[in-house]
Amino acid sequence: MRILLLGSGGREHAMAWKLNQSVWTNPLYIAPGNPGTAQCGINVPLDINDFEAVGKFCISERIEMVVVGPEEPLVNGIYDYFKANEDLQKIFFIGPSKEGAQLEGSKAFAKAFMLRHNIPTAKYKEFTVDNYEEGVRYLQNHELPIVLKADGLAAGKGVAICANHVEAIAELEWMIQEAKFGEASKKVVVEEFLEGIELSVFAITDGKNYKILPEAKDYKRIGEGDKGLNTGGMGAVSPVPIATSAFMQKVEERIIKPTIDGIYKEGIAYTGFVFFGLIDVKGDPYVIEYNCRMGDPETEVVMTRLETDLVGICVAATQQELDQVEIRVDPRKAATIMAVSRGYPLAFEKGFPITGHDGKFGKQSLVFHAGTKEENGKVVTNGGRVLCVTSLDDDLTEAVNISLDVLSNIEFEGMYYRTDIGFEFR
Ligand code: AMP
Ligand code: GLY
Repeated sequence: MRILLLGSGGREHAMAWKLNQSVWTNPLYIAPGNPGTAQCGINVPLDINDFEAVGKFCISERIEMVVVGPEEPLVNGIYDYFKANEDLQKIFFIGPSKEGAQLEGSKAFAKAFMLRHNIPTAKYKEFTVDNYEEGVRYLQNHELPIVLKADGLAAGKGVAICANHVEAIAELEWMIQEAKFGEASKKVVVEEFLEGIELSVFAITDGKNYKILPEAKDYKRIGEGDKGLNTGGMGAVSPVPIATSAFMQKVEERIIKPTIDGIYKEGIAYTGFVFFGLIDVKGDPYVIEYNCRMGDPETEVVMTRLETDLVGICVAATQQELDQVEIRVDPRKAATIMAVSRGYPLAFEKGFPITGHDGKFGKQSLVFHAGTKEENGKVVTNGGRVLCVTSLDDDLTEAVNISLDVLSNIEFEGMYYRTDIGFEFR
């Protein structure tokens, strides 16, 4: 099967690694990819938000299945573009329609969807310039802390957790009146603060059936002990000890099932991954957010534990036959640790040579590239999150230690990583 994977991060390297193991895959293209994905298939220099260019490539290379990694092309309607084109509509497509992607692309859409389907989430209200004064009054009387969310995509930066009313009102003004995130913050969702442990649960759906993939916990803060600024994710572990079978049963009954049933009943075209960003509030799961894609760096621990053939899963999803798929999972613990550029998540420099990343690290470790590129035959840094090391072991502490050991052999100017990933479970 001729497959095209869209994206270029650590998530896509992990997906490319997994897709490439399938006997069905021949060949695998990755657009635009990175030097890591180049080890799993053929990189193609395409702008994945240029749907016409992606479509042309699919026709000329007779692509049979497209798998979309990141949210942006989905929110912009790449699925709908393919389905509206006679030459492209027969291609198997993993990724939801523009409407389905609104679960991530609009917080207000997601909240209203959850309300309609009785899915547990924080109480909320939405505000725009039209009811701005009401918003200010609402904030003045709101319990602290207060969570404000830009409605649209804001590169993971659209959430503010405000400790007092003055800060919350200033944030509302900045988002709505001063367009802090442009169009994305013209509408703001204000919601109650939920206290608990967060985890990421993943499913793949064909719009009717679904299968649950291994869960993961992502470490978002830059510093040890979960201190400092938020990042895209500094590491992840899977499984998550708080995701006991009793807890996961609640997640499935109260959240996953009603979400997929809601998608089905509302006639939303959705063949692809659903990422449930959850919080465990005293044993009860609540949805913090939906994403219409896999997580990064969660994918780097999910794919390494997934034993079932990913191409088989994706094909079954496109045929609405996911109910016939069996998901097998490696019982070992996986830990991934992200190495980032000095300064990240604020300003950082790029272009530093990376050494030690292509050694042989034994069977239980993998290096996944994120922000890297090849320059004059050398791999250099090309982003904030540069690469991550995933290791598997029966013991989580050991898995983390193996990843740390591999990282100690890798070098680039200004390299930084957390040494405490999975700390609360070790
Ligand atoms: P999001 O972009 O929706 O994932 O939000 C970013 C982060 O803000 C989440 O990972 C949570 O840590 C935090 N957050 C969002 N909503 C809430 C909430 N209602 N209560 C507590 N924390 C939240
Ligand atoms: N790691 C969180 C995300 O991918 O959104």
